[in-house]
Amino acid sequence: MAQTLSLSGANGVSDIQIETGLLSRAGAAIGAVFSPSRIHIVTDSTVAPLYLETLETQLALPVSHTVIPAGEEHKRLKTVETIYHDLLANSMTRKDLIVALGGGVVGDITGFAAATFLRGVSLCHIPTTLLAQVDSSVGGKTGVDLAEGKNLVGAFYQPRLVLIDPAVLSSLPDGTFADGMAEVVKYGYIANPAILDMIARPDYKSNIESIIYECVKIKRDVVAIDEHDTGLRMILNFGHTVGHAAEKLGGYTELTHGQAVAVGMVAAMRLSALRGDADLTAPLVSLLQKLGLPTALTYDREAVFDALLSDKKKFGGTVNFILVREPGRAEITPIEAETLHNYIKQL
Ligand code: GLY
Repeated sequence: MAQTLSLSGANGVSDIQIETGLLSRAGAAIGAVFSPSRIHIVTDSTVAPLYLETLETQLALPVSHTVIPAGEEHKRLKTVETIYHDLLANSMTRKDLIVALGGGVVGDITGFAAATFLRGVSLCHIPTTLLAQVDSSVGGKTGVDLAEGKNLVGAFYQPRLVLIDPAVLSSLPDGTFADGMAEVVKYGYIANPAILDMIARPDYKSNIESIIYECVKIKRDVVAIDEHDTGLRMILNFGHTVGHAAEKLGGYTELTHGQAVAVGMVAAMRLSALRGDADLTAPLVSLLQKLGLPTALTYDREAVFDALLSDKKKFGGTVNFILVREPGRAEITPIEAETLHNYIKQL
């Protein structure tokens, strides 16, 4: 059943539509919201052979595209520059529309190009991975990586439209689907334990549209309160503090983002128990294992602490750690760096 959520951001309202089969009706959905003269689609070398033609044939306007090479290593300013040149070569103006068709990397990089080209062009996201559908396509974070770290350059820029079609997930490799499930588990623990019940069912994949809707609703509600990530939005980082450190220590190749978040959520639960809170680790570990996600932090604890401190989410001498008090209730907990150091050693 079609569901729509709306999010009001600094650069306008974002409509988020979720419906199985929506990609095959994307032309009509885009036509109902935008009146551009031209459309430029950005996608990658994995997604282009699967869905680019399906989308282009529905758009009764001059349509052009950029196909970027797939992979996080291409989430760079150099790739954004290629997109700018293609936009100019295709006479795109500020009244036209840019569509991001792909996973998180395509979404982040295209969002950044849309936010900055001619100081802002309308943007539509069509996310094709579960991770992009439940997380990165919603909320307006855009950006690219630098040699020094991930997402160090970017902008908050809300897409005017997000079209989420769960049917496209059938083309994902199991590992890529599991990656997105790590973020789904995160939403269950930070805000809505009913999501955990939904995933616990053996046939949960047949209910994925409703699961996506529940996750996106949480993200919409959080971003509506704290678009620019100065307070509440930090709860979306449950599992990401140690997760980002693990991702970095693995050179961004040993662990995918979802795997790192899974490991990071387990570490955060263990840390809660060390602080004397209820120990919720066992059910989390068992759920993540069932979903095919790793749970063990295998990196040297001193290295984890150092990597964690270099993360951009540190404030002065404290780290804002997201702790889950009970399934569905997360709290932003400032922990003094040396205290955190002691906990990390014991994980
Ligand atoms: N992925 C976390 C956020 O959008 O804030």
